[in-house]
Amino acid sequence: MNSVRRNMNILCIGAGYVGGPTMAVIAAKCPDIQVTVVDINPDRISRWNSDHLPIYEPGLDEVVRAARGRNLFFSTDIEAGIHDADIIFVSVNTPTKMFGTGAGMAADLQYWEKTARQIRECADAPKIIVEKSTLPVKTAQAMKRIFDAGNHQNRFTVLSNPEFLAEGSAVRDLENPDRVLIGSDASPAGIQARDRLVDVYARWVPRNRILTTNIWSSELSKLVSNAFLAQRISSVNAISALCEKTDADISEVARAVGMDSRLGSRFLNASVGFGGSCFKKDILNLVYLCRYYGLEEVADYWEGVVRINEYQKERFVVNMLGTMFHTLSGKRICLFGFAFKADTGDTRESPGIFVAKRLIEEQAELVISDPKALENARRDLADVQGNIRYVEDPYEAASGADAIALITEWPQYAALDYDRIFRTMVQPAFIFDGRNILDHQRLHGIGFNVFPIGKPALTHFHEAPGIRP
Ligand code: UDX
Ligand code: UDX
Repeated sequence: MNSVRRNMNILCIGAGYVGGPTMAVIAAKCPDIQVTVVDINPDRISRWNSDHLPIYEPGLDEVVRAARGRNLFFSTDIEAGIHDADIIFVSVNTPTKMFGTGAGMAADLQYWEKTARQIRECADAPKIIVEKSTLPVKTAQAMKRIFDAGNHQNRFTVLSNPEFLAEGSAVRDLENPDRVLIGSDASPAGIQARDRLVDVYARWVPRNRILTTNIWSSELSKLVSNAFLAQRISSVNAISALCEKTDADISEVARAVGMDSRLGSRFLNASVGFGGSCFKKDILNLVYLCRYYGLEEVADYWEGVVRINEYQKERFVVNMLGTMFHTLSGKRICLFGFAFKADTGDTRESPGIFVAKRLIEEQAELVISDPKALENARRDLADVQGNIRYVEDPYEAASGADAIALITEWPQYAALDYDRIFRTMVQPAFIFDGRNILDHQRLHGIGFNVFPIGKPALTHFHEAPGIRP
């Protein structure tokens, strides 16, 4: 680790999707600050130090290359990192707890608490601790108690600074955020620590976009932001089911609704379901908090967002089954895309996992294609018994298939030569567009039976046009 003393030393514990890009951008924007990212996983760290970063994110290679070795360092030496740091960001994972009280709902805080204890043991000078991980409300208070235990009183100031970046646009979101949120307590130490962190962001973020709040509002705002975003998708997906019954078109409805400036047009794309590491986890966390405080109705309300998402994923598979004559056994189905969204190789909570497992249950044969996510897909489905192949080239993947199911909105899938694909598929050929990004009329013209989300189906069967099972 480079030990040149700069104006400030920032450490980040956790070199994941959040910690890595966030620190790379801080280092790029603040050449006078030394930024070190540490992780317990040595493979992850060695990949951050190589030409093959552990995550795919547009623009990230360039930002890392520019700062790495200058004022950005990746290391496994957590203790030295803590010792040298003025500000410590903690960005370790907080998965859904899978055991004991709150199993399947509450956040598992074991990594956070372990990290807090390690900071307490290794720190011999005052430190500012920044919660970057998304945490239940009141975690900062619990952490403060751990930090203050024994004879360590008041050496640590805890701030909440949730990250709002979305994968696939992480660098852009970090360089030009809608807002930066910093929560602190109202003590002089809290205010002073908050102002130091404000000064870091103010190097590139306009002041009026840096919001300061009390620590609980900050922690809660992150959960609520994700819950509201996911709620929009579940709302539009719920209406997509009604569109399919009524021959209304979800894109037309979403456009009409989104032009109301009070609502806005973004995040209204109907889909096979939302995925990603945050939405489900954070909503369940919110639901757990509400139940904990006895707010059953509020908990039920938000849980509905997750329920509709499960329903949408299942509906997609049931629709495939019904349309393909109620049996998928021995049929070959090609998945176009496996990542939870375009521009990332991340597959955490991807609807692709659910769809693949359900199709295997129906004894279909799967060929999975994705430009960035096949390594993760193989890992996700390692325990699944069934006939699954992983083929990056979409033409090869679709060859010999009965159906294509488009799972991820990679733009390259809209630009393929579907005449060529159609000729290599088993007839009748089906296409299920789980993202509504394909030219449905044109596909129908080629000869496909086309099933979008929330729009009339385009088939070559004898039933009335648009009919669905
Ligand atoms: C994580 C959390 O999931 C999310 O709630 C939070 O908002 C930000 O941090 P992400 O960066 O996507 O999100 O997680 P992940 O890619 O899993 O990275 C976490 C890293 O922390 C891993 O590399 C893991 O090895 C590391 N880690 C975990 C530690 O260094 N120490 C630990 O004790 C546990
Ligand atoms: C989300 C939040 O956007 C981000 O602010 C927070 O910090 C972390 O969680 P992320 O999970 O990376 O980010 O991706 P996001 O772009 O929000 O998409 C989540 C899921 O919703 C994806 O599966 C995406 O395909 C889906 N989605 C999104 C839709 O189905 N329809 C839409 O209109 C938008």
